[in-house]
Amino acid sequence: MNEKIKYCGSLAFGHRFPGNINLSTPGYIFFNVEVDKVLIEKNSSLRDRCGKIFLATDVVHLKNEFFSGRKMTNHIDDSELVIQLPDWIKQLRRSEIVDRVQKDPRSVAETLLGISFTVAREQVTEWGQANFDEPWKDLSPADRVLLYAYCHQLRHLEELTAAFHILFHQTPPKENLVVIDVGCGPFTGGLAFAGEIGSESQFDYIGIDHSQAMRSLGETLASATKHLNGVYRQWSPDISSVDWGSAPNWRPVIIIVSYLLASRTLDVETLISELEILFNKIGRGTVTILYTNSPQSEANRNFPTFRKALQDADFELRVNDEGMVKIEKQPGEIRTYKLRYALFFRPEQNILSLGGD
Ligand SMILES: C[S@@+](CC[C@H](N)C(=O)[O-])C[C@H]1O[C@@H](n2cnc3c(N)ncnc32)[C@H](O)[C@@H]1O
Repeated sequence: MNEKIKYCGSLAFGHRFPGNINLSTPGYIFFNVEVDKVLIEKNSSLRDRCGKIFLATDVVHLKNEFFSGRKMTNHIDDSELVIQLPDWIKQLRRSEIVDRVQKDPRSVAETLLGISFTVAREQVTEWGQANFDEPWKDLSPADRVLLYAYCHQLRHLEELTAAFHILFHQTPPKENLVVIDVGCGPFTGGLAFAGEIGSESQFDYIGIDHSQAMRSLGETLASATKHLNGVYRQWSPDISSVDWGSAPNWRPVIIIVSYLLASRTLDVETLISELEILFNKIGRGTVTILYTNSPQSEANRNFPTFRKALQDADFELRVNDEGMVKIEKQPGEIRTYKLRYALFFRPEQNILSLGGD
C-alpha cells in the first residue's frame, strides 16, 4: 500500500489540494478526515474530484510517514503561501519598538541603545534566552526586552502568523477563543493571532512569562492599538498564578509555545507539571497546542519529553514537521525562513470521570 501513496495531506492544516490530479486515482489520501470532509463537501469542485477518503484511523500505520513529512508533497514549504503582516502590526512595531530604539539618544553611530546589533542579539538578549529581569551592564530590563523585540520578535511574529493562517483561513474560529501564550515574550503570539483572525475579533488572551519586563512590554504593545480593544488580557508570571475567575468551560483554547523550549535554563519537567495544572483548569472545550521553534536540533532537545507528556494527557500529535515560511517583507521582496513546528489537539472532554478529585 505504501508505494501507492502519492499524496497525503490535510486541507485542515493548509496542505493544498493538488489541483492537477484526480483524487479518485488510487493512492491519494486525505487525512484528518472529519474536518476535511466538511471542507470538501462545501466546495463543489473539490467534491466532484474527490475519490475515496480514508479515515485517519484507517491509515494509522501511515502516520509515521505522514508526520515525518517524507511522503508529503503539500506541506508548508511547498505551498504558494506568502505571508504579509497586517499594516497595523507593522505600524505598531515601528512606533513602539523600532522608533523607540532608533531614536533613543544612546543609539549613535548605528548602534542600538549604544550596543552593536550582534552584541544585542547574542549577548544582551542571548538569542531570546536571557534572564530579562536582570540588567545587562548599563542596560535595564526594559532596554533588554526592547532589544529582544527589535532583534527577534518580528521573525517569531511572522512565523506564528503563517501558522495561524494555515489553521484558520479556511475555517475561522466560530466563537471567541481563549489564547494562552506560554513564554509569551512581548505579546508575540497574541499579536500574530489578532493579525490573522481580524481586527474586529474578540478573544481572551492569557500571557504567561517569568519576566516582568516582557509582560510589561507586552501590555504596552497591546494597549497602544485600537485593534485590540476587544481583547481581554491577563498577564501572569507562571501558569499556577493565572486567575481563572472566568474559566473557559466549553470554549476552545489555543496554547502557543513559541520558542519557549529553546531555553537552556528551561526546566521541562516543571513546565510539564505546570501544563498539567493548566489542562485541569481550562475546561472541557477543544484544546490546540501550537509549538514553534528554531529548526536547530539543540533548540528542540526537550521536544520528545514535551510530546510524551502531551500524549499522556490525551493530546494527539497532528503535525510534527519542519517547513519553510515565506514572508513578503516589502512588495516584491520575499524572504524564506525555516521553521520547526508541531500541532497537538485534544477534543472536547465530554466524559465525566467520577470519583476523581
Ligand atoms: C525566546 S523568548 C520567546 C518569546 C515569545 N514566545 C516569542 O516568540 O517572541 C522565551 C520567553 O520565555 C520566557 N520564559 C522562559 N522560561 C519560562 C518559563 N518556565 N515560564 C514562563 N516563561 C518563561 C522568557 O522570559 C522569554 O520571554
